[in-house]
Amino acid sequence: MRLVVNESLRFEVHRSALADPAVHELESRRIFERCWIYVGHESEVRAPGDFKTRSVAGRPVIFCRDSAGRVRVFLNTCRHRGTLVCREREGNAERYTCFYHGWTYDRDGALYAVPGQGAYPPGFDKNELALKEPPKVAAYRGFVFLNFDAGAVSLDEYLAGAREYIDLVAEQSPSGEMEVIRGTQEYDIKANWKLLVENSFDDYHLLSTHSTWLNYLKNAGVEMKRPAKGEMLPAHGVGKDLGNGHGVVDNVNFRGRPVARWIPIYGEAAKPEIERIRAELVRRLGEKRAARVADTNRNLIVFPNLVLNDGSSVTIRTFQPLAPDRMRVSAWALGPKEESATARAVRLDSFLTFYGPGGFATPDDIEALEAVQAGMAAWREVPWSVMSRGMAKQGEQLNTDELHLRAFWIQWDKLISR
Ligand code: FES
Ligand SMILES: [Fe+2]
Repeated sequence: MRLVVNESLRFEVHRSALADPAVHELESRRIFERCWIYVGHESEVRAPGDFKTRSVAGRPVIFCRDSAGRVRVFLNTCRHRGTLVCREREGNAERYTCFYHGWTYDRDGALYAVPGQGAYPPGFDKNELALKEPPKVAAYRGFVFLNFDAGAVSLDEYLAGAREYIDLVAEQSPSGEMEVIRGTQEYDIKANWKLLVENSFDDYHLLSTHSTWLNYLKNAGVEMKRPAKGEMLPAHGVGKDLGNGHGVVDNVNFRGRPVARWIPIYGEAAKPEIERIRAELVRRLGEKRAARVADTNRNLIVFPNLVLNDGSSVTIRTFQPLAPDRMRVSAWALGPKEESATARAVRLDSFLTFYGPGGFATPDDIEALEAVQAGMAAWREVPWSVMSRGMAKQGEQLNTDELHLRAFWIQWDKLISR
């Protein structure tokens, strides 16, 4: 056990979880080989032969569309001796040729040609040497996941309460189809990956870490809710445990959102278009549901390493652990397929402004996470981190409480302790 949870309402996380190489090794087996792990969005591979190469759960994969138009995931390792079969980041391929000895696979993964095949003994069978696939691949509303555990529960069951929040994203499109907008943000952080999980839905830090951003909004004329006496400014929403380690902060939106809620920083020119989007939303979903979609913003964690920041833009963010103290982050902007050029410009601007690697939030968050990791060097002497905000409360927990963080850690501990 790496948690303390007891009657006196203490909840503490053992810092070895963030620093010990032995834990990092265990996570690879017990978490990343057993959970549904995000691969990509269907819209990233539209036509037969479209592909992206990625590292998912530490494995090189080819995320692609086959000749029948199905989304596929292949392990990017040659059946001959293991070379990466595809070394391009993205593209469209009729076939994948391994550059080492020239074995060639078609876009459906079948081994198509072997140079000098005649030299192989009888019994050599190309049909047995197709590119391997993970035991399970499934999608929910365009989000594609893989699972290395053949016995895992279905993706739908796994997602549990997170599905409702993915639905709220999909409903932003009139056709229900969202698309990843071309281009990827990529950066490394010198910190344990779980610190970014925490940070992605830790609203307790907003006031102290992001004062620059809050001042910018205020100066731009954005109406900020005044905190009630004794309350934290960002306490304007709730934190929820969505089951299976997933969690969300579900907040009143004061930042606006390009989908349907205008704020001054979007500029007067964009106002009519944003009002039109709002009207479409109301026509399609009704007043109440439209308000649910547009007037709240939600930071969702799908256990273990997918984040949907559904607010001032929609950001898909995932991160791969590289070492106990290092992760690689990838992030994409998501928007309705039918979005106009004006709305898309606002969306991309918002995508960069807050969560972008050079935006108002992310550099400050990275600074915080790397400072936490530096503090972890003393984990043997100072072994416990405190995570008990809101524990004594009955019922609803605020976004600045830590119920949702505890839900993540309880699931993590359950899987790692097996
Ligand atoms: S390793 Fe791919 S052809 Fe030899
Ligand atoms: Fe932050």
